[in-house]
Amino acid sequence: MSATPVPPALPGRYAEVYADSLADPETFWLAAARAVDWETAPSRAFDAEAGSYGRWFPDARLNACHNAIDRHVAAGRGGQAAIIHDSPVTGTKRRITYAELQEEVATLAAVLSDLGVGKGDRVVLYMPMVPEALVGMFACARLGAVHSVVFGGFAANELAVRIEDASPKVVLAASCGVEPSRVVAYKPLLDAAIEASEHKPDSCLILQRPQCEASLVAGRDRDWAETVQAARAAGRRAECVTVAATDPLYILYTSGTTGKPKGVVRDTGGYLVALAWSMANLYDVAPGEVYFCASDIGWVVGHSYIVYAPLVHGCTTVLYEGKPVGTPDAGAFWRVASEHGVACLFTAPTALRAIKKEDPRGERVAGYDLSRFRTLFLAGERADPDSVAWAERTLERPVIDHWWQTETGWAISGNPVGLGQLPVKHGSACVPMPGYDVRVLDEGGRPLGPDIMGTIAIRLPLPPGCLPTLWGSEERMRRSYLTTFPGYYDTSDAGIRDADGYVTVLGRTDDIINVAGHRLSTGGMEAVLASHPDVAECAVIGIRDALKGEAPCGFVVLKAQVERDPAEIERELVALVRKRIGPVAAFKLALTVPRLPKTRSGKILRGTMKRIADHEPWTMPPTIDDAGALDEIGESLRARGIGT
Ligand code: COA
Ligand code: AMP
Repeated sequence: MSATPVPPALPGRYAEVYADSLADPETFWLAAARAVDWETAPSRAFDAEAGSYGRWFPDARLNACHNAIDRHVAAGRGGQAAIIHDSPVTGTKRRITYAELQEEVATLAAVLSDLGVGKGDRVVLYMPMVPEALVGMFACARLGAVHSVVFGGFAANELAVRIEDASPKVVLAASCGVEPSRVVAYKPLLDAAIEASEHKPDSCLILQRPQCEASLVAGRDRDWAETVQAARAAGRRAECVTVAATDPLYILYTSGTTGKPKGVVRDTGGYLVALAWSMANLYDVAPGEVYFCASDIGWVVGHSYIVYAPLVHGCTTVLYEGKPVGTPDAGAFWRVASEHGVACLFTAPTALRAIKKEDPRGERVAGYDLSRFRTLFLAGERADPDSVAWAERTLERPVIDHWWQTETGWAISGNPVGLGQLPVKHGSACVPMPGYDVRVLDEGGRPLGPDIMGTIAIRLPLPPGCLPTLWGSEERMRRSYLTTFPGYYDTSDAGIRDADGYVTVLGRTDDIINVAGHRLSTGGMEAVLASHPDVAECAVIGIRDALKGEAPCGFVVLKAQVERDPAEIERELVALVRKRIGPVAAFKLALTVPRLPKTRSGKILRGTMKRIADHEPWTMPPTIDDAGALDEIGESLRARGIGT
């Protein structure tokens, strides 16, 4: 099959670079690999016979921490800020140079080593946006250990599932996270998670934050600061351990179509090569510049563009512990960009919508010196054209939407500003990045022509940086991504490509919803609702939300004998999802209905329910079992002021 043709009309170097990446991936990626320091340089880029679809840089060896920190210190960047922690929620700011970071990481790595962590061992991190979280991640990378960061907005149960699956030797955690409205005590959640998990870590290192002191479990927990201080006093430091390029750097759990999250594995060499390529060519930033990715280290965007890419590229990364609005106002991002001389800002469309809502005329930008700020990048969910246009007008800078997934680790499509910016088309996430042979397929796997909607798939192999497998489950890897369309990776995103090759992502083909840029499984929420003793059956759908893009809405049918007040049960269900999955699920709406609309074969008509809730035209499915059930859905939504 031939490579996707790239229309020659596109300006800049993109078309040529992209075509080269598909025509001769060996040459392309070996050239890109020169941006990385290798202990053993790759003699070839790809082994098609290894892994589920081949492996990148099969004979090369390196260390990720060396690439992110030590080599820059050796090259004279020791005095440059590596991390700027800007924390409006705690009223603190801290600059950490590359040399200081190296010292902190080497010391913590020695502590981890003393706790028995070595190459290939897992370490779970449950930490907020504090520098110690990055120190922890790099300390793992230094030892060749595999870190797995769990987002702070997840509840104990979700943390337990991840601890169980990753079986870490050590957990690194903070006593608390600080949300604008409250201090979130992490330690009780960690204790409950370890209690619930069959796997027990040997040790936990607890960073005590002044906002909330945690009690420590004797024999298992250690105070982070005291332990590190003791190691420092003893002159303990650990050096970088060389690993194979194909060795895992981290596991990052993401919502799958069942309640059980998928442990996306990231390998080391291909990831660093892809990130280094992207910093220069996609984001157009130079070493020494300041990069501000306003995500969270618990998400893939945070792993790649708060932690690894900026430092691998010799930039300064801004670690922002705050929100786009309310900390203290809708000018927060512009204040950070101005104060730290940010060249590139990367955030989620939800954040822009939140800012636009509070500052519709963009007045808060005035007064901030944004002279070093060049480009705004958006990802995580569909960038609605209104918000993009608003940001363009307000900032007078290019606003670039780009599309990616936890699985890919970096953008599948985007506008590679470093190669010469392509025209922006509002609503589209632009063109495929090198190595991504993006096709739109029909249900039978046949390629569709321009502007026809289908499932977006990527012809194998995936480029460097993308997942080689799922942790402990090669079979699930194949089943989830590689079997629907043989020879392709199934993105589970639906969309179109236009005649210029631009990709527009329109939504998921599975039960994943995107709430404020956070990926959540409705199946997971249904499992929680179904566990309530009064619930007979249930369905959760994502309904349109002006701020968060989508918000979950649960419909439940109560068991016949239940005589309690439905409103009380609905409140319990909202609380149950928050307790089991966490506040990040933003599950606020549970509606009791007499029955669920189903086809005659018993399939719940979630798609039609969503159309009703989203005020979209809908038709009565011919296969419906009982038409009245859909009317009842409409009525229950209308009673809450939703839908038509
Ligand atoms: N630890 C603990 N709780 C957290 C948390 C964390 N790290 N992050 C979020 N939460 C909580 C919030 O406090 C909130 O709790 P509440 O129900 O008690 O209010 C809940 O989880 C939902 O959070 P969120 O979806 O962030 O909503 P919000 O109303 O607090 O903020 C926005 C709205 C738009 C400001 C916020 O969603 C945002 O900044 N979105 C951008 C997201 C993003 O960058 N995603 C990365 C993808 S690239
Ligand atoms: P996550 O794995 O959390 O990064 O979420 C990945 C999913 O978010 C994708 O499969 C898409 O559904 C959605 N997504 C991410 N970026 C974009 C984008 N730029 N446009 C549309 N959807 C996006």
